[in-house]
Amino acid sequence: MSASASRGPVTARAALLHNAGALARPSLHCTCEEGEQGMSDDEPIVAQKGPYQVELVEGRTYSWCRCGRSQRQPFCDGSHRGTSFEPVRFVAETSGIVNLCGCKSTDDPPYCDGSHNLL
Ligand code: FES
Repeated sequence: MSASASRGPVTARAALLHNAGALARPSLHCTCEEGEQGMSDDEPIVAQKGPYQVELVEGRTYSWCRCGRSQRQPFCDGSHRGTSFEPVRFVAETSGIVNLCGCKSTDDPPYCDGSHNLL
């Protein structure tokens, strides 16, 4: 699936202001049970194996959660503190409904690019 096809009926392009990925820092030992994912500071959590369909307002700035830990998906609530992740801040260029990535594996943040189909 192409990135543009997954964004929904209204294509709202956004200008990325900040696209920080994992920062270089020592990884911590995971104490989670084997097979449990997303417990490392350096690994995003799959918040949802599919996009979040949300309505954006033109000109408004949003912070998309990159770490998957937010309780306000798909937006950041500050839960990334203590991890190597930072949210992706962007401004909606048009108003409309878009598909924002929920699996945190997209190559086109903050938009869904269909990567959840490979999980
Ligand atoms: S980036 Fe996930 S809570 Fe901020």
